Amino acid sequence: MKVLIVGSGGREHAIAWKVAQSPKVDKIYCAPGNAGIAEYAECVPISAMEFDKLAAFAKEHEVDLTVIGMDDPLVGGIVDVFEAQGLRVFGPRKNAAILEGSKAFSKDLMKKYNIPTAAYETFTDPHKALEYLQTAKMPIVLKADGLALGKGVLICNTLEEAEAGVKEIMEDKKFGSAGNQMVIEEFMTGREVSVLSFVDGDTIRIMTSSQDHKRALDGDQGLNTGGMGTFSPSPFYTKEVDEFCKKYIYQPSVDAMKKEGRTFKGIIFFGLMLTEDGPKVLEYNARFGDPETQVVLPRMKNDIVEVFEACIDGTLDQIELEFEDNAAVCVVLASDGYPVKYEKGFKIHGLEKFKDADGYYVFHAGTKFDEDGDIVTNGGRVLGVTAKGKDLKEARANAYKATEWIDFANKYMRHDIGHAIDEA
Ligand code: AMP
Ligand code: GLY
Repeated sequence: MKVLIVGSGGREHAIAWKVAQSPKVDKIYCAPGNAGIAEYAECVPISAMEFDKLAAFAKEHEVDLTVIGMDDPLVGGIVDVFEAQGLRVFGPRKNAAILEGSKAFSKDLMKKYNIPTAAYETFTDPHKALEYLQTAKMPIVLKADGLALGKGVLICNTLEEAEAGVKEIMEDKKFGSAGNQMVIEEFMTGREVSVLSFVDGDTIRIMTSSQDHKRALDGDQGLNTGGMGTFSPSPFYTKEVDEFCKKYIYQPSVDAMKKEGRTFKGIIFFGLMLTEDGPKVLEYNARFGDPETQVVLPRMKNDIVEVFEACIDGTLDQIELEFEDNAAVCVVLASDGYPVKYEKGFKIHGLEKFKDADGYYVFHAGTKFDEDGDIVTNGGRVLGVTAKGKDLKEARANAYKATEWIDFANKYMRHDIGHAIDEA
């Protein structure tokens, strides 16, 4: 088979690495890819938003399966464009990707089908939102409706902060048209868990749990980022939690989408908060998480291409997912200053040390080749260093050991990825 992967981050590197393990696959393309993905795939300089060009490429090169990694093309309808041309593609159609593309949609869906989530109101008029805030309990959470690079959520401790937040989102349009509509929701406390799943429209198969660290600084301080590190499994994702979610969240979400005429095929990523009143949905994503994928896929035993095909063909009920009985930790190596302002273009040393190190992985997020053919930094998040271990503590020690193998100017990382492991 020939497989095309669309995207260019650590998530797509992990997907490419996993696809490369499949005995069914003899050629991988990635658009646009990065310097690390180039080890498994021929990188093609087409952006993820150029749907027609991508489909034409897939046709011309007789690609058998295209896998979409990123949220923007999914929400923009790339799957519909591929399907209209008779191309096999893994991911939700536009009318289903709205599960991630509109927070107002997903909240209304959960309300309608009694799926546990925070209480909320939606607004299209900033004056109504401001009026509502006058009697609301603080802290409170403001969410821009649309995609905002994971940054469209504001947690406000005071009325003044919340008023300023409404202005930023709805009047100043800090997140662009994502702020035409807004969700204001109850602030919840508890442990956060990420659960990724494969869905074929009817059947859902849950992958192993993981947890992200979204803040830039140690102690979960500083600005929200795309994610600074992950671990898997989450020690807080107990059997009871799993049973509850299976009954009240996972299958009900898939069934709700089908009932709405928006059959979902692809990945549903459940962002969960384990509250005192039980697990609740923080958000849905319609694609693999990044960097969650970098700890989940290295532990997965299945041939991922078989699972992708089963989702497309509606035969996922015939597949059981299997995960190794171990743990993995990923520490993101970023450019100092991320997520605000940072320099790039620095040579990266030490990547070769991962080649023969079993259970150690370096997934590239923002890298490229310079004119000399050397790999240099090319983004805020540069690399994800993942290591496995027999348990979470061993995996964490291994991952931090491996971060020392890598060197580049302005290298920045958090030193407390997996701190929750000690609190379990
Ligand atoms: P989201 O993009 O919706 O997952 O939100 C980003 C982050 O904001 C989440 O990972 C949580 O840490 C936080 N968050 C979102 N919604 C809430 C909420 N209702 N209560 C508390 N924290 C929240
Ligand atoms: N790590 C969070 C996300 O992928 O949205």
